[in-house]
Amino acid sequence: MKQVTPLKLAILGSGKGSNARALIEASKQSKLYYETVLLITDIPHAGILRLGEEFQIPAYFFSPGPFKTKFAPEREQELVTLLREAKVDFIALAGFMRVIKEPLLAAFPKRILNIHPSLLPHFPGREAWEQAIDAGARESGCTVHLVDHGIDTGEILGQESVPIFQNDTANTLHLRIQEAEHRLYPCIVNTVAKTLLQKKSHY
Ligand code: GAR
Repeated sequence: MKQVTPLKLAILGSGKGSNARALIEASKQSKLYYETVLLITDIPHAGILRLGEEFQIPAYFFSPGPFKTKFAPEREQELVTLLREAKVDFIALAGFMRVIKEPLLAAFPKRILNIHPSLLPHFPGREAWEQAIDAGARESGCTVHLVDHGIDTGEILGQESVPIFQNDTANTLHLRIQEAEHRLYPCIVNTVAKTLLQKKSHY
């Protein structure tokens, strides 16, 4: 790969942070087209904050305001300012449980990615692994997609499937899906970064 300045990625997460870790570790181990420059969470003491310390990446709890499932509009605008100040090029949602609205979508058009724990369009929404078990599905997996105004509806960029066995519980299935997530997400994020860099060099 010729010498390029990697694109700056921000990761937003609400959970334990295993996908954030996979994204950061991938970009540290081999020279990729992106580097993680900012970690943001809407949950105080989320795992992602510890990753910031471990990998020396700025990591913040960002108070979302009074709503349960979205940012307060003025908070989302302030988040845009924070991301701009950090010169972020694109964003990966990694277990981020709030719906992204206009200020952020408009500021980063087609530059916000999400990982979802099912083969979309099957089982959108929460606890997708549990939905798959309850539906008696024989296969599930994970999907990386662009974020749009809907819930898990944006353009699909990549998927990896995993089998569902008869003795699987929601928990064992989620663990298997997560192994696939940790392979798929860094790969797709890197491909998106490469494409964006190529577009940039054509300006
Ligand atoms: C992941 O399995 C991710 O796909 C899921 O939350 C988990 C977060 O785990 N996301 C969603 O359900 C979004 N609809 P992590 O914090 O260990 O990355």
